[in-house]
Amino acid sequence: MVSLSISMVNLVLFWLSFLSLTSEAVPSYRFHICSNETTFIPNSTYQSNLKDLLLSLSSNSTREIGFYNNTVGQNPETSVYGLFLCRGDLTPDACQDCVSTATNEIVQQYCPVEKVAMIWYDECMLRYSNRSIFSVMEDQPRKYLWNVLDITEPDRFLKLAQTTLSDLVPLAANASSAAKKFATKEVNFTVLQTMYSLVQCTPDLSSFDCNRCLREAIKNVPTCCSGKQGGRVMYPSCTIRYEVSPFYQIKAVAPPVPAPGPTPIPLLLPPPPDAKLIYQLLILQCRARKSGISWPIILAIVASISVLALLALSYYFLRRRTKKKYNSLPDKNAASDITTIESLQFDLATIQAATNKFSDDNRLGGGGFGEVYKGILLNRQEIAVKRLSESSGQGVEEFKNEILVVAKLQHRNLVRLLGFCLEGKEKLLIYEFMPNKSLDQFLFESDKKKILDWSRRYKIIEGIARGILYLHEDSQLRIIHRDLKANNILLDEDMNPKISDFGMARIFGVDQIEGKTKKVIGTYGYMSPEYAMHGQFSVKSDVYSFGVLVLEILSGNKINSLYQSETTTKDLLSYAWEHWSNGTALELLDPTLRDSYSRNEVNQCIHIALLCVQENPADRPTMANIILMLDSYSVTLKTPQQPAVFILSKTEPTTPTE
Ligand SMILES: *[C@@H]1O[C@H](CO)[C@@H](O)[C@H](O)[C@H]1NC(C)=O
Ligand SMILES: *[C@@H]1O[C@H](CO)[C@@H](O)[C@H](O)[C@H]1NC(C)=O
Ligand SMILES: *[C@@H]1O[C@H](CO)[C@@H](O)[C@H](O)[C@H]1NC(C)=O
Ligand SMILES: *[C@@H]1O[C@H](CO)[C@@H](O)[C@H](O)[C@H]1NC(C)=O
Ligand SMILES: *[C@@H]1O[C@H](CO)[C@@H](O)[C@H](O)[C@H]1NC(C)=O
Ligand SMILES: *[C@@H]1O[C@H](CO)[C@@H](O)[C@H](O)[C@H]1NC(C)=O
Ligand SMILES: *[C@@H]1O[C@H](CO)[C@@H](O)[C@H](O)[C@H]1NC(C)=O
Repeated sequence: MVSLSISMVNLVLFWLSFLSLTSEAVPSYRFHICSNETTFIPNSTYQSNLKDLLLSLSSNSTREIGFYNNTVGQNPETSVYGLFLCRGDLTPDACQDCVSTATNEIVQQYCPVEKVAMIWYDECMLRYSNRSIFSVMEDQPRKYLWNVLDITEPDRFLKLAQTTLSDLVPLAANASSAAKKFATKEVNFTVLQTMYSLVQCTPDLSSFDCNRCLREAIKNVPTCCSGKQGGRVMYPSCTIRYEVSPFYQIKAVAPPVPAPGPTPIPLLLPPPPDAKLIYQLLILQCRARKSGISWPIILAIVASISVLALLALSYYFLRRRTKKKYNSLPDKNAASDITTIESLQFDLATIQAATNKFSDDNRLGGGGFGEVYKGILLNRQEIAVKRLSESSGQGVEEFKNEILVVAKLQHRNLVRLLGFCLEGKEKLLIYEFMPNKSLDQFLFESDKKKILDWSRRYKIIEGIARGILYLHEDSQLRIIHRDLKANNILLDEDMNPKISDFGMARIFGVDQIEGKTKKVIGTYGYMSPEYAMHGQFSVKSDVYSFGVLVLEILSGNKINSLYQSETTTKDLLSYAWEHWSNGTALELLDPTLRDSYSRNEVNQCIHIALLCVQENPADRPTMANIILMLDSYSVTLKTPQQPAVFILSKTEPTTPTE
């Protein structure tokens, strides 16, 4: 169920004259979207950047991977970000045909002055925007197309489509980042009819996001395409399609399935002449986005500060250096001295010098709010500089006020904000540098998770809990983090956890008080159901994310990992629940912990985690309760309810109507 108010904006009929698979000469246009609300001035820099971008996309369209992304423009205000994706089965030449058609037609015919545009052909997709669209899972705007011919046995067909597509998801999502995220499969529907199915993501997505995108798309199949001989769901980041005629080049090696059935179906047969398909195009939009800039900023803001150590310094060396560094903190950053905004202001020249002009070598990682760079100040202090890419929704004075507020939040389990810089177009946040990167880089790496023995993990759980408690209750303000996850937990030289990226909603002027938001900042899997689906956030949505984190720390697996049991595939939440309710909770534990753990502490943590991930926010404990439970075994814990399973539900038997 997606909580979208869907309005049918447009209904267009297309004739698909024939599905030619042998000749790939003319790409078949399907639709385009471009908002007339963001336009550029003819002969402007944006236009010339766009021209260069399209040229570079077109000239890179023979790449084996069938995908390319590029950015043209130095100035963020006139930069154009673009990409194309060819259907995974196309040859490089066919891909090039489609991309060069797309790059020409989009500006000449469809979107001559629009800054943000997307065009789909059967063979490829092209999109560009004035903001970065890479590595971000986007599911808006979305399109549904369906084959107008009816199918016999609609229920069975729909089920088969959903199951087949779901089976393809891991094949596409698990592909390495340098490979196509693409999979197809043929299955028999009746003796005479074969179902052809396809899933594909843009390869810049992470496996997690690709998985999420495709599963979302599959959930929508009943909405659009029930009862029909075929359907497609197209998101900017991924696409799914199924038909009873072949619409892609079938892999040379046919699956050897010895099955009874008299009529062999020649796989590469073009569809019969009467199989002209009429497609209806339904444009579904989020009502919330009908006005304003039409391209959404999406749920998944991946990897906020993921601090990658670029220098191959040994652990002890780092440790020595950073110890020294902390001694040399300039006075102006001392907690007691933060009274004025001036004391926090750095000038751009200093930061440019510290980061070697934001050189690529200094880049630590990227995130939803901007890139992060490592810097070294003249006094040799190491810093992390977040270069904000999004424009915040507020003026300079408000921005400074919020910085002051966030800088005053100081706790040993929070990454400290040292200052900021605001000059010209640059908006920078300066943080203390954390030498040991982020929790995820230990927890989910097989060679490094050993460093996290049980006592370290327990200490990390406690530290995170204390950091969140401080944000929720102990600071003068109530700060809801909204994006707690393993890569937002940084580790200092002694492996103490420090929460990063808190207060970003304030700094960006997004809704600050508890309630409902249209701008969901967060990461799928860590977001509570009410936040992910309805934008409702509260301290209890952070508690949910904390519960997820604890389960990850205990199991050493990501929340989206799947567990195979005899009958079903389970996600981490259901798996934990199953074992807890069977009294086998210790099964969940990361095998690298072996016998180093304390049975009591582990049981306590699993119990607390399950209390945190309960569906009803009111049933979840507060952070203060959690600290209490962690501190004392004698507290009797409530029995948790089964957690919400909304993450990877395989098929939705009923049609979502919203
Ligand atoms: C954009 O298009 C809509 C619908 O076609 C139209 O009502 C609106 O006036 C247009 N806006 C601009 C700025 O051209
Ligand atoms: C843009 O440039 C072209 C050729 O340089 C010129 O013909 C055209 O009039 C210009 N358009 C505008 C709006 O300035
Ligand atoms: C591909 O794109 C790059 C810029 O990213 C450009 O320099 C190059 O000329 C393009 N064409 C080919 C064939 O690589
Ligand atoms: C292409 O996308 C990746 C992220 O997937 C990004 O890091 C890279 O900078 C992009 N390339 C260009 C030329 O913008
Ligand atoms: C994109 O362009 C629109 C309209 O010109 C503008 O409001 C928006 O801020 C721009 N976005 C970025 C990231 O520059
Ligand atoms: C895909 O990845 C998941 C989790 O990493 C793993 O359990 C599964 O076996 C993989 N599937 C394939 C087909 O490789
Ligand atoms: C589908 O049916 C054909 C012929 O009836 C058979 O050769 C083929 O193995 C079947 N495929 C599957 C996947 O069952």
